[in-house]
Amino acid sequence: MTRTQVVIVGAGPSGLLLSQLLDREGIATIVLERQAQRYVEARIRAGLLEQGTVDLLIEAGVGERLQRECLVHDGFEMAFEGRVHRIDLKGLAGKQVTIYGQTEIQKDLGDARLAAGSDLRYEASNVAIHDFGGARPRVTFIHQGRPQELECDFVAGCDGYHGVCRASVPADAVRTYERVYPFGWLGIIANVRPVAHELVYANHERGFALCSMRSPTRSRYYVQVGLEEKVEDWSDERFWEELKRRIPEDVAARLVTGPSLEKSIAPLRSFVVEPMQYGRLFLVGDAAHIVPPTGAKGLNLAASDVSTLYRILLRVYREGRTDLLARYSPICLRRVWKAERFSWWMTGLLHRFPDTDAFGRRIQQSEQDYFTSTPAGLTTIAENYVGLPYEPIE
Ligand code: FAD
Ligand code: PHB
Repeated sequence: MTRTQVVIVGAGPSGLLLSQLLDREGIATIVLERQAQRYVEARIRAGLLEQGTVDLLIEAGVGERLQRECLVHDGFEMAFEGRVHRIDLKGLAGKQVTIYGQTEIQKDLGDARLAAGSDLRYEASNVAIHDFGGARPRVTFIHQGRPQELECDFVAGCDGYHGVCRASVPADAVRTYERVYPFGWLGIIANVRPVAHELVYANHERGFALCSMRSPTRSRYYVQVGLEEKVEDWSDERFWEELKRRIPEDVAARLVTGPSLEKSIAPLRSFVVEPMQYGRLFLVGDAAHIVPPTGAKGLNLAASDVSTLYRILLRVYREGRTDLLARYSPICLRRVWKAERFSWWMTGLLHRFPDTDAFGRRIQQSEQDYFTSTPAGLTTIAENYVGLPYEPIE
């Protein structure tokens, strides 16, 4: 049996970033990932980073290409009722946001882990965690056809929403909270110039649309679709036509179309598990919570969980502060719930709900009007969008 200090299940952004941070401080980790490296690095997901996420990536030693290639935005736009409102993030909240794809972060972290000679095992199957309620957790799995076993001090469950770690906690020890929305986002990525310098979110009678980007030559666009929609029914032409109809006319006039590199539908969901710790198992990122993408918070919340667990484990190993372990879940959940609230609220503000009556629609219009016409409303949007502060660990 092999011994290590922290076993990390999942090599998504949470798992790799935690491993990178801990290893640099001499805390040994082994990362187990179900998928192949190529598969993990090709997944197209988030693209907008809060300053706290950028700072953590720099601290982890993987900020060099990010700082060279990223785009920094001072604000974004919201369009509804035929008008466009700019949210001046820098002016209202004193912070900017950064555009840099999750695929690029995944590559940078993967390269850094490889360069450090880390123990990172892709295509590990049948991962199972044992005895994490006690002092000596064990993890079993199959790698390269051989059954293996690890003994460790702690397990970090960084294995996403469908992972094995959350599912291994006794059902009566946790409570889950969930909201499923009656629509999804159909998203495409294409090598065309972005339609605008900043992101444009639109609430149109045909449904929500978002114009985003990955670089000055690569665009990311989304439209709200019903849950019954199938991606095969959406040709590129149909997608571009639908997008054009939902965004303001002057923006649509600048739209450059082209063949899509990827096209997929993601259903929208809010989900939180409480607590995020059970014994020596810590749930991190999507394993513990999901947000609808409207507030661009999924990846950023994963990063703030990683920051909290990393700082606690550092003090456990350096100063023997085992009392801090019980602080992980309450510290994370305070920030998680605020991001859940904001993502749920932005989703309500910007989408068309199939089951809303005339009263509900008037309330939505009035909310749009109030929040974009008062300093208090605009500041509330801006300070949540740029990311609320991380809580210090004392
Ligand atoms: P994940 O990225 O899910 O990583 C978990 C890893 O664990 C995966 O590599 C998985 O293969 C591995 N794993 C799972 N089970 C096991 C097992 N049993 N054994 C070993 N390994 C396992 N966020 C935004 O902010 N904006 C977006 O536009 C956006 N789009 C998204 C689109 C999709 C389709 C999805 C699924 C998510 C999207 N998100 C978006 C959310 C964002 O990508 C996630 O919040 C982020 O990836 C969380 O990182 P993570 O490392 O916690 O989890
Ligand atoms: C993206 O670029 O993929 C993106 C940006 C902002 C969001 C959601 C997704 O709110």
